[in-house]
Amino acid sequence: MAILSRIRTWFSKFDLRQFLPVLTSKDGIDFEMAERSDIQDLLAIERDVYAGTVPWTYTHFVREIENNPNAVFLVAKKSNHTVGFIGLRVMLYAKELHVTNLAVKTSMQQQGIGDSLLQQAVRVAANLNLGKITLETPRVTDGAQGFYRKEGFESTQILASYYDDGRDAVTMEKKL
Ligand SMILES: CC(C)(COP(=O)(O)OP(=O)(O)OC[C@H]1O[C@@H](n2cnc3c(N)ncnc32)[C@H](O)[C@@H]1OP(=O)(O)O)[C@@H](O)C(=O)NCCC(=O)NCCS
Repeated sequence: MAILSRIRTWFSKFDLRQFLPVLTSKDGIDFEMAERSDIQDLLAIERDVYAGTVPWTYTHFVREIENNPNAVFLVAKKSNHTVGFIGLRVMLYAKELHVTNLAVKTSMQQQGIGDSLLQQAVRVAANLNLGKITLETPRVTDGAQGFYRKEGFESTQILASYYDDGRDAVTMEKKL
């Protein structure tokens, strides 16, 4: 009983932000933990990459940045301007780190920033001794699936009509 109660206490006090590795800069890009003041920049990147339609609202970002102890957002900045971000949520019981959102400003894509953001995710997962990174992405031929495959992810499942507009999603995972 005592052990169970200690485990419960540990889970209830858990805060993913305490398990972040030191975020090191790479190729002139700085990585930081996102705060509420970053949300307008995150929304601007969403409008840019999704051509005006914003999958995540201000409230979604606040929930994951401030209210959910199992979640964190990291931003990539170049000369103090936000150029990309990744959202991470830990699923302790499943021993996995879930990518909730990832985007790089269109004009900054194909320069290794998406890769660096995922590398930060791998470091977070390693800090917590998690076995895999998982995500959902739209099931389209020209989407982000090719990127994730290059990053070592494999498809695991199709989720029919997963998105509000009826598109299917594919779940992917990278074993660590
Ligand atoms: C997917 C995304 C995050 C990739 O970011 P990026 O900074 O351009 O990626 P990188 O430059 O780090 O690319 C890493 C590798 O993946 C490749 N790659 C990037 N996008 C790709 C794509 N759409 N299809 C296939 N390969 C891709 C790159 O060529 C590079 O390969 P290399 O190592 O052989 O040179 C970015 O295109 C994006 O924000 N897309 C719109 C939002 C989105 O779809 N997010 C994911 C939703 S789940």
